[in-house]
Amino acid sequence: MAGKASLVSARALRIAIMTDEIGWHSARLQKALRARGCSGRCVDLADCRIDTGWAWHGLVIPGFGRDLPDAVLVRGIAGGTFEQVTVRLGILHALRELGVPVYNDARAIERSVDKSMTSLLLHLAGIPTPHASTSESAAHARRVVMRAAAGNQRLVLKPLFGSQGNGLRQVGQIDGEFVELPPLVEYGQLAYLQQYVESATRPGFDWRVLVVGGRAVAAMRRVSKNWVRNVAQGAHCEPEPITGSSMLEIADIAVQATAALDLDYAGVDLVPRDSAGTVVSAAQVIEVNGVAAWRGLQTVTSFDIAACLVDDLLTRKLAAGGRCGRVAC
Ligand SMILES: Nc1ncnc2c1ncn2[C@@H]1O[C@H](COP(=O)(O)OP(=O)(O)O)[C@@H](O)[C@H]1O
Ligand SMILES: [Mg+2]
Repeated sequence: MAGKASLVSARALRIAIMTDEIGWHSARLQKALRARGCSGRCVDLADCRIDTGWAWHGLVIPGFGRDLPDAVLVRGIAGGTFEQVTVRLGILHALRELGVPVYNDARAIERSVDKSMTSLLLHLAGIPTPHASTSESAAHARRVVMRAAAGNQRLVLKPLFGSQGNGLRQVGQIDGEFVELPPLVEYGQLAYLQQYVESATRPGFDWRVLVVGGRAVAAMRRVSKNWVRNVAQGAHCEPEPITGSSMLEIADIAVQATAALDLDYAGVDLVPRDSAGTVVSAAQVIEVNGVAAWRGLQTVTSFDIAACLVDDLLTRKLAAGGRCGRVAC
């Protein structure tokens, strides 16, 4: 048995990079893993299967034969039918149950992908975030919008699982005009409404803070004339050193938000205090990304973000437990 144990610890760790897109991010991760003597194999979760006749653990992970990876790094999960996504997430849940460290874990990804659950968990943890509500009833949602408009407020309607700034609409009282709720068919018949935070500057900006292993490691400003300040919507990135009391406070909010969702790493979107200064903190959390891209942030960051993620996975996450936690890479 001692011989077997030393054989296991002698071999390089094999990491599955779960991604539906082979490209810049997966190449950076593979390079960082290679530099640490590990292998990173890209696997599309859509190609993974449950097959109880295949191996004792009942999972088929392409490229791993009857074995399981030593750890899984989730880089992307393709959208699909409810059934397809249920099984894809189920496979990540199963890997965790089988003792494979999954970075980020499926439970945490589910919480962050669902914007309403993010709002709820941030609220419960006392983290500054704009008020948000959901409703399956269009009639109820219309009343919420009308109430906001009566108070001269506007709200942001967002797709529950949206990303890259797609599908966001302002509703309510906007520049003296009432904008009503659009039909919810494009929103999965669900209204997720978040209080709008007016920008105090022109052009406005967001902060994106990357939190890795409980530390805010990098930040940037996303500056845009557009009120939706995603890089995919044309915002440009400016470096934001995490120094000075205000930025340290913002970084701390991002760390707390990541912890509230139980994420190993996250890209946290924050907006500055609104122009009316109604919020005491320097910033409010708009969204927490559990499958965060970092290409924009890398352009204004001096260290290799992929290497930072891989180091956190190999040193902290694997050391914390799992079937190969004792194995040094
Ligand atoms: N409540 C809000 N108030 C002001 N701006 C917002 C609000 N919600 C979103 N935005 C703007 O839209 C961007 C995208 O919203 P976000 O909730 O992060 O969705 P996505 O998942 O599409 O990135 C934010 O980064 C911000 O610039
Ligand atoms: Mg966002």
